[in-house]
Amino acid sequence: MAYLNDHYLKLKAGYLFPEIGRRVKAFGDANPDAAKRIIRCGIGDVTEPLPEAVRTAMHRAIDEMGTREGFHGYGPEQGYEWLRHAIAEHDFRARGLEVADDEVFVSDGSKCDCGNILDILGGDNRIAITDPVYPVYVDTNVMAGHTGDADASGAYGGITYLRCSAENGFVAAPPAEVVDVIYLCFPNNPTGAVATREQLTAWVEYALRHRSLILFDAAYEAYISDPSLPRSIYEIPGAREVAIEFRSFSKNGGFTGTRCACIVVPKTLLASTRSGEQLPLHPLWARRHTTKFNGVSYPVQRGAEALYTPEGKAQVAALIAHYMGNAAILRDAATAIGLRVYGGVNAPYIWCSTPAGLTSWEMFDRMLGEANVVITPGSGFGSAGEGYFRISAFNSRANAEEVARRIKAIAW
Ligand code: MLT
Repeated sequence: MAYLNDHYLKLKAGYLFPEIGRRVKAFGDANPDAAKRIIRCGIGDVTEPLPEAVRTAMHRAIDEMGTREGFHGYGPEQGYEWLRHAIAEHDFRARGLEVADDEVFVSDGSKCDCGNILDILGGDNRIAITDPVYPVYVDTNVMAGHTGDADASGAYGGITYLRCSAENGFVAAPPAEVVDVIYLCFPNNPTGAVATREQLTAWVEYALRHRSLILFDAAYEAYISDPSLPRSIYEIPGAREVAIEFRSFSKNGGFTGTRCACIVVPKTLLASTRSGEQLPLHPLWARRHTTKFNGVSYPVQRGAEALYTPEGKAQVAALIAHYMGNAAILRDAATAIGLRVYGGVNAPYIWCSTPAGLTSWEMFDRMLGEANVVITPGSGFGSAGEGYFRISAFNSRANAEEVARRIKAIAW
C-alpha cells in the first residue's frame, strides 16, 4: 500500500490565487458580457514586455545554442559563475555589503526557494509568521509537517503568528517568546509596508540572541525609493550570522513567466544539530540544490545577467517607475472613496481597508460584480487581513486609470 502525505489534508483551502481564478471564471461564465470588461489587479503578475536588454541577450544565447561551439548542456546547478558574480557584485558588493559569488544560488523562483529551503531545516523548529502573510510560507510548513491542524480561524497549531495591523504599521516586532525560524518579507506582500533600519536591526539582534534563523524575502526590494529604507537584510550588522535572503527577477525584470531568482546563504550562517553542534547551512543547501535541481536554462540566465548592464538597469528603472505610477493612481482612487490606504509607496501593492461593514470576500464580490475588477481579499493572507483587500499595481497604465475610474464610480 502507498501512503500519502497526511499533512496535505490539513491544508484549509486551495492555494489563494487558483481559488480567486476559480471564482473569477465562475463569474465570467455566468456573466459573459461583464467577463469581457474584467481587469485583473489580483495576483501580482507583471504585465509589461521583457526589457530589450534581456530579449537581446536571450536571442544571442539561443543563437549560440544553435552552434556546436556555443551549445550548452547541463549548466552548474547553482547557476553560471558569471550570473552569480553579477548578482553578488551589483546587488551587494556595489552597495558595500559582503556577499561572495559562491554564496549566491540561482534558481527558478522565490516561491520554489521558499518551499525548498525547508529541506535543510529540522522538523521541530518553532516557526514565526506574520499575519497577514504570503501564503506560501504557511502552506509549505503545513505540507512539511511542521504544524498541527488549523483552528476555526485558519490558524495552524505550532505556528507563532505575529499580528500586523495599522497600529504597528504592518511591521511586527520580535515576540517575547523564543522562535527558531522567522519569515520576514519587505517590502511586504501583501501590505506594502517596509521595515525601517531600526525595525530590522531589532529582528537581527533577536535572532543573534536566540540563534534563530531569519528567512528574508526581498522579492520586491527594487520598489524601494526611500534611501533610508534597507533593501537587503545584509545592510544590518550581524545579519550574515542569522539570515538567508530570497531575491527574484520576477518583479524587477518582468521574469514571472521567464523564471529566474536566487537565494543568498552566507557561509557564516550556522544552525544547530540535535546534539547541539553548530554547523553551516551553506554546504547543506549546496548539496540539496545540486541533488534536486538542474539549473536554470542558459538563455534565461543570460537574460538575467543583462539586467545588470547599464541598459538593463535603465530599463528596469523604467518598469519600476511605470508600476509605481500605477500605484499612485490606485492609491488616490482608494483614498478618494474614503478608504484607509497603506503601501503603494515603496511597494507595488496597495493595502486598503474595506468600506464599512464589508468583509474582505464581500469586497472581492462587489469589486468583481460592480466594477468588474479583480482584487485580492485580505483574509486570504491570514485572519488579520480580514477587513482589508489588496490591489496590485502590476498593470498597463490604461487599465490602472480605468480601475481608478470604476472604483470612484461605485456608490460605496
Ligand atoms: C502575489 O500576488 O502575491 C504574488 O504574485 C505571488 C507570487 O509572487 O508568487
